[in-house]
Amino acid sequence: MAILKIITEEDETLRKKSKPVTEITPRILTILDDMKDTLIQADGVGLAAVQTGILRRMFIINTSVEEGKAEIVEFINPEIIKTSGNQQEVEGCLSVPGKYGITSRPQKVTVRATNRNGEEFEFTGEGLFARCLCHEYEHLDGILYTDNVVKMLDPEDFE
Ligand code: NI
Repeated sequence: MAILKIITEEDETLRKKSKPVTEITPRILTILDDMKDTLIQADGVGLAAVQTGILRRMFIINTSVEEGKAEIVEFINPEIIKTSGNQQEVEGCLSVPGKYGITSRPQKVTVRATNRNGEEFEFTGEGLFARCLCHEYEHLDGILYTDNVVKMLDPEDFE
């Protein structure tokens, strides 16, 4: 277990496309464990592997709605298979510290992915979690939320 360094928007790695995970090796599991520690310490909702400099198609999200608790779901080789509705809400990113913006996202998103045991599963998120699934998925293709933001917020708006 270790806390990984989260890279920020100046780092070109964030703009690269992550590669599929072809085999769930002990190394992949260690990365997922370390990503979990890193996400909890950063008090974020989601973290993609690329944000720790690892160009593999996987991300994790904290699905706990209770503050200070963690219920981490791991997504390996995720695909968005269904979206519905629309929402415009505030979004931020651990790789774009201190900034927030309004994004336009589906209200409900279903992702199909592989878990750490190599089993396929589907996960549906609504509201915050739908935003998070889209946000993390885009990281795997080198996209940041600031690329398609509706409006960045002024610091006075959230301080
Ligand atoms: Ni992000």
